Amino acid sequence: MNTDKRTLNIGLFGFGCVGYGLYSVIGKTPGLKVNIKRICIRDESKERPVKLPLFTADKYKILDDPDIQVVVELIDDADAAWEITQLALRKGKAVVTANKKMLAEHMEEILELQKIHGRPVLYEGAVCASIPIIRNLEEYYDNDLLQKIEGIVNGSTNYILSKINKDNTTYLNALQEAQELGYAESNPLLDTGGFDAKYKLLILLAHAFGTIVKPEEILNIGIQNLGDLEIQFAREKGYKIKLIAQAYRNEDETVTAFVAPQFVKPHQQLYAVDDVYNGVIAESAFSENQFFYGRGAGAFPTASAVLSDISALTYQYKYEYKKMKQIHYPISTDVTLTLFVRFSQEHEKSIAGYFEKIEETYSNRNSQFIIGKMQLGKLKQLKETYPELSVIVAN
Ligand code: HSE
Repeated sequence: MNTDKRTLNIGLFGFGCVGYGLYSVIGKTPGLKVNIKRICIRDESKERPVKLPLFTADKYKILDDPDIQVVVELIDDADAAWEITQLALRKGKAVVTANKKMLAEHMEEILELQKIHGRPVLYEGAVCASIPIIRNLEEYYDNDLLQKIEGIVNGSTNYILSKINKDNTTYLNALQEAQELGYAESNPLLDTGGFDAKYKLLILLAHAFGTIVKPEEILNIGIQNLGDLEIQFAREKGYKIKLIAQAYRNEDETVTAFVAPQFVKPHQQLYAVDDVYNGVIAESAFSENQFFYGRGAGAFPTASAVLSDISALTYQYKYEYKKMKQIHYPISTDVTLTLFVRFSQEHEKSIAGYFEKIEETYSNRNSQFIIGKMQLGKLKQLKETYPELSVIVAN
């Protein structure tokens, strides 16, 4: 192991899918002067792909080691990750994390702690795994020309939807495959319910528009309620259903953000983003669209983003959150969407009342749907009242 003065010593928390991926990737990147000095794991008796003398169950072996300059936090538990992040910053260490839930829930405090302790927190691996989207938002889209950012930001749900569409696999089989491949969260409802995509959207919002909001303020609709009727509807029209996160500026200098399934047509860029891949479109005032594409989950794609952050620390890189110093864009739900909503007969009257305008209705013996215009604020209320509804954006 390389331990000369220019070597960055790392204390790694977590040795699961991504932690082990990082260990392997570092081993294959000899040009980078980094050394994993210690690895903190929760359960020392657990079977691991490799057994290393670096393992410890005592977090202070990392946090109190003055030779460790960087804490890399790759654990699953967002609360434990938050505790480690705070302790590491207080102890003067830089932090690299891929924990999107922790980042989304504590963005404001993370900004504050970085200022107080003068140590950076980097998290490219938290959003779209292999796609370098945060660094691009920070460095390239650092002015206020960015109008919109939208994309497929969750690999598991894209894998599930692709499998259902292409191979006629059942939802549960596809989910199980996504879990076996190491794409899904240990609580898969975070993926299927659109929560993971929302956490990523909140991180993107901070860098794209300088807007910080709490997760509960943003609507997330997942894919867990999708049924045969809408899958068949999409097939007949030649559409695909994709889970899309989006945030855009409105004319009144507000920002709208939400996550929901959407019908995507063949001419749209996101149509071709299948399986575990993610795709993000940045829409800018004078340069039209730029499209980012890459693997959105899995050990190595995430580890390579984490490694890029570690590498960036070797030249003192930190996020500057430039947008926050420019203009303040509050969140608005005062926009109208075209929606497909499937429901059961007994709710027909009350659900129809949420629409501003009904464009199409359909009914068979088992279920019915309405396509029509609804305000985003109303949709939020509708989902709170009827969480079991299947809703797809049909703009
Ligand atoms: N569960 C996440 C996903 C992992 O499927 O995208 C990568 O963040």
